[in-house]
Amino acid sequence: MFSGFAGVWTPIVPSRSLGKKPLALRLADEPVVLFRDGDGRVGALIDRCPHRGVALSLGRVNDRGCLECPFHGWSFARDGACVHIPLNEMPSEKRERYAATGLPVRESGGLIWVFTGTDSAGTEPSVPEALIEPGWTRWIHDEVWNAHWTRAMENMLDTPHVPFVHRRTIGRSMRARMRPDSVLRMTVEPKPYGARFVAELDGESTGAALRWRRPNGMELHIPIPDKKMRLQIFCVPIDALHTRMIVIASRNFLHWGPLAWLSNQFNRYIVFEDRALVQSSQPPEVPPPGDEVSIASDGPTLHFRRYYFRELKESGGEALIPASRLTAPSTP
Ligand code: FES
Ligand SMILES: [Fe+2]
Repeated sequence: MFSGFAGVWTPIVPSRSLGKKPLALRLADEPVVLFRDGDGRVGALIDRCPHRGVALSLGRVNDRGCLECPFHGWSFARDGACVHIPLNEMPSEKRERYAATGLPVRESGGLIWVFTGTDSAGTEPSVPEALIEPGWTRWIHDEVWNAHWTRAMENMLDTPHVPFVHRRTIGRSMRARMRPDSVLRMTVEPKPYGARFVAELDGESTGAALRWRRPNGMELHIPIPDKKMRLQIFCVPIDALHTRMIVIASRNFLHWGPLAWLSNQFNRYIVFEDRALVQSSQPPEVPPPGDEVSIASDGPTLHFRRYYFRELKESGGEALIPASRLTAPSTP
């Protein structure tokens, strides 16, 4: 289950994407259904009824706040417990054996977080402070890229592309400083949350501080005197060729108005500048570190790539319902 991405917390969609109806998604090649109970609390289940395998997401949330299967009306609580089976006498001990697969889920910082496994063993998602502290304005955008999440993630941790891909936008000042013999030195500082990457161009800081939040988050601290501005990007695996990019710009100033709108459009454009290049990468999934040529300024992306091959690539075993066995179109 969750092959190549098992045993981790990840945001799956912005909170606003989940209304009153169940929402079908794919996460790391598994079908997942999200729903809200009568009190608005989120449940996350593998989107397959244990009875005859139909998609629970085609059902409805009933008066008891449970997800009711559309086929024979079995209903399931937020943790997957089977709470009712119509038209049959059944002792509750027996019914308990007919649970759907529940996933640990949290809602925090404007995002719904899911654990890619059934036992999160006392762990909690690492929610960036800019998403939960009061006093920040946040803009959340999500879109689907036709790319494997590992290529998207590396792109977000890659500083040397900035003066090329973003030469007219965020890479402009770096490009202006570059000489033919310039050297970009990247330092990798492992941290409990992942790593911090420090960039120096010809011995001088490039300004912004870049962090990797394990497993699939990037955080950029943008230096503005007396103010705080952060960009968070999460690369959420859908399947081998699709990634949901969740982009959040947070700032403790410029709360409303046309300038705020412009700033958000600018962030959207920056992501657009990366998209076509990442989607063109072959092979789609990053290969092992030795299989592509790398240079010193690739330190941060190689740091991520080693982690991926050491801890995630082989995790989770077989997909429950591999895309190749699906007979109906899946919903990215
Ligand atoms: S298939 Fe879900 S209740 Fe029968
Ligand atoms: Fe970029």
